[in-house]
Amino acid sequence: MIKNLSTFFVGIALSCLAGCTPIPKETTATKEYAPLEVPVPERPAGQQDVIELTTPKLDTVRVGFIGLGMRGPSAVERWTHIPGTKIVALCDLLPENAEKAQKIVTNAGMEAPALYSGSEDAWKQLCERNDIDLVYIATDWKHHTEMGIYAMEHGKHAAIEVPAAMSLDEIWALINTSEKTRKHCMQLENCVYDFFELTTLNMAQKGLFGEVLHVEGSYIHNLEEFWPYYWNNWRLDYNREFRGDVYATHGLGPACQLLNIHRGDRMKTLVAMDTKAVTGPELVKQYQKEEAPDFQNGDHTMTFIRTENGKTIHIQHDVMNPRPYSRMYQLTGTKGFANKYPIEQYCFRPDQIDSTSIPDHENLSMHSAVPEKVKEALMSQYKHPIHQELEETAKKIGGHGGMDFIMDYRLVYCLRNGLPLDMDVYDLAEWCCMADLTRLSIENGNAPVAVPDFTRGNWNKVDGYHHAFAQ
Ligand SMILES: NC(=O)c1ccc[n+]([C@@H]2O[C@H](COP(=O)([O-])OP(=O)(O)OC[C@H]3O[C@@H](n4cnc5c(N)ncnc54)[C@H](O)[C@@H]3O)[C@@H](O)[C@H]2O)c1
Repeated sequence: MIKNLSTFFVGIALSCLAGCTPIPKETTATKEYAPLEVPVPERPAGQQDVIELTTPKLDTVRVGFIGLGMRGPSAVERWTHIPGTKIVALCDLLPENAEKAQKIVTNAGMEAPALYSGSEDAWKQLCERNDIDLVYIATDWKHHTEMGIYAMEHGKHAAIEVPAAMSLDEIWALINTSEKTRKHCMQLENCVYDFFELTTLNMAQKGLFGEVLHVEGSYIHNLEEFWPYYWNNWRLDYNREFRGDVYATHGLGPACQLLNIHRGDRMKTLVAMDTKAVTGPELVKQYQKEEAPDFQNGDHTMTFIRTENGKTIHIQHDVMNPRPYSRMYQLTGTKGFANKYPIEQYCFRPDQIDSTSIPDHENLSMHSAVPEKVKEALMSQYKHPIHQELEETAKKIGGHGGMDFIMDYRLVYCLRNGLPLDMDVYDLAEWCCMADLTRLSIENGNAPVAVPDFTRGNWNKVDGYHHAFAQ
């Protein structure tokens, strides 16, 4: 009986396969679906790219800060420890925020910076001063781009907190302004300087992982304790209005550096998918005392990206739900593997490891992480030159364990030595474009979307990602 029944069902299945719903033959072969394309505006006449841009050396980097809420004052504090700098001016819409930040500077025994506050446009006066070289922007996301553009238009370099731009229009405006004014426009992506990330990047650049094929990154951070403190509730409002991965840069930045994006490879196509929005509307009820049936940002957003050279990237975003903090940071190479969260680990083909200098090398296998002692020895052997110089000071001064200090220090170092910055405006563009492009994919049934070439043809001009060092 059972035998007969199963024969019956198999028969139905086969007849369906054979007759009712024939599967077209071509679906088994690779089929090219044309991705959705977004327009790439032509480079304005007379303008050139700013890849490896260098600008005249600055003896002292004179800085003005705009945006002194939760994030800005810690940057001001860090800058009081960086040699060759002068904090000239501070601006926040709220006078009390500007005054508090001024105290950080005077408490460090430095001259009181000029203050700008009290009006929506006071920051413009800061940008218009003629004794500032760099404008450092740490406001809410919606103000970033207009402030960066105005700073460059007034002869200043711009350093902008993450994400520096929220739409393709804003991205192109920053690129065009940087190219036109020949001023640096750097996104303040601190996570590329963290200790495991830079060490692993160094290992990758020395070939320890073979060919890096796949990388993962994420921003999984339950923001429960922060929601009530954002100025004017800007962050929750933004998530309420926009679908897609609106905060991709912490996960994507380190991933792109591992893959030499716009230095020999480029992101070509992406596909994004999100869950429905459940916690977001609850947060609106809790903090804004209203219903939000229109809440746009899904609780969890996933993005898959394929590169010109056939590599893949997986990025995730969830700031709503209870999960341990994770930026993921994972890489798969032909000869090794690295993973940062929840535990830092490496795995290698045994012949990748120099057995003379590494303890416990006889315990290596290709299907488990290397023992702790091996990991420690490797991490010390491959410590990045930036960390060799700065780790001790950075850990003392702090800022997410030291990486924020390293970011600021490197920015100053490169400006003082007339070197290209570690991150250029095209990095900014590639890491920020996720907001608009993932939204486009999701709103079109998770369709593939083409990632524009923000360098407008020059993504292959530089061979590999590298940090600049003065001679
Ligand atoms: N890289 C990191 O690790 C990291 C960490 C936290 C925040 N951030 C980024 O830093 C930025 C600021 O975040 P936050 O948490 O400090 O937000 P926040 O709301 O605490 O601060 C924003 C500040 O901007 C000020 N502001 C608003 N409009 C202004 C205007 N017109 N002129 C001058 N000031 C104005 C507000 O008064 C407020 O003090 C965001 O871009 C955020 O994503 C980055």
